[in-house]
Amino acid sequence: MYAKITGTGSYLPAKVLYNADLEKMVDTSDEWIVTRSGIRQRHIAAEGELTSDLAFEACLRALESAGVAAEEIDLIVVATTTPDQIFPSVATILQNRLGAFGGVAFDIQAVCAGFVYAVATAEKFIRSGSSKKALVVGADTFSRIIDWTDRTTCVLFGDGAGAVVLEASETPGILSSQLKADGRHKHLLEVPGQASSGQINGHPFVRMDGQGVFKFAVKSLGEMADQVLREQDLTAADLKWLIPHQANIRILEATAKKLGLPMSQVVTTVDRHGNTSAASIPLAMDEAARDGRLQAGDLVMLEGIGGGFAWGAVLLRW
Ligand code: ACO
Repeated sequence: MYAKITGTGSYLPAKVLYNADLEKMVDTSDEWIVTRSGIRQRHIAAEGELTSDLAFEACLRALESAGVAAEEIDLIVVATTTPDQIFPSVATILQNRLGAFGGVAFDIQAVCAGFVYAVATAEKFIRSGSSKKALVVGADTFSRIIDWTDRTTCVLFGDGAGAVVLEASETPGILSSQLKADGRHKHLLEVPGQASSGQINGHPFVRMDGQGVFKFAVKSLGEMADQVLREQDLTAADLKWLIPHQANIRILEATAKKLGLPMSQVVTTVDRHGNTSAASIPLAMDEAARDGRLQAGDLVMLEGIGGGFAWGAVLLRW
């Protein structure tokens, strides 16, 4: 038994923040942001618009595209670092709103690697026979944990959500999923603050060593892509599409170059979405599915990396 993606959906908040808007908020320029990150605009959740609100809309679209009713879902896995509240999970909040009371629901926290962690986990539930129809979601509102006066981070992130329906299938589907983590690199990217006695102790916003992240991401993603392909007796030449976490265009270009893959085979949304953390891969996948780039039988690789560090890859036949 395999697990196969049968539907995709995504949602972006209405408000768009352009680089020109950021020029008025911090000492930066459109030219600096575009050259260093490839980002031109990002969507920002409205006041009171929570991660589960974005995720809910993405799930409705994914269910519709799969032709699956919410009541048929027996597993909900949500990758997020910005849950609505400390508990309960976004997954159970979503379960309630969708009326999908048939099974298991939980969140996964692996920051920008969250979606590949969630897909790999849901796949194991399906392959073991515990679940038949899963909703796998990546949703984040990083705008809530960004210091909007810190130009080194605030220009990079945006909000959004993406979701897929993953179903048990006799044909592949997911061929392979690999996950990895190395907690020694915590200092490269973190929000150190701790909720304690009604307040946050310590820095409550994203703190990042940009160059450290860049080097670690390119090295780790390159090695993992090689390993996943080799284990399936495949090479990068067999790949039709790479759908990577959209951190910044230079990381995507360096990863594609290492694989020997032209950028025309890399699905990119970073210019319009910024870095939406766990949402970026399913947002990009939904776009490529809906505009017809992804065709049945295409070999597709998903790759994500984020704070921890945690990273992973999923190889699948569309
Ligand atoms: N506007 C203008 N100048 C800026 C800005 C800004 N928004 N941010 C930083 N600068 C300045 C710095 O202060 C520095 O000035 P100085 O030379 O006077 O000290 C100068 O620009 C160069 O700064 P660097 O940090 O060396 O710039 P770099 O070329 O490394 O680019 C960047 C920074 C874009 C963050 C890069 O390191 C990068 O892409 N890193 C990857 C980070 C990333 O993608 N993080 C996402 C989260 S992790 C993930 O999703 C995997």
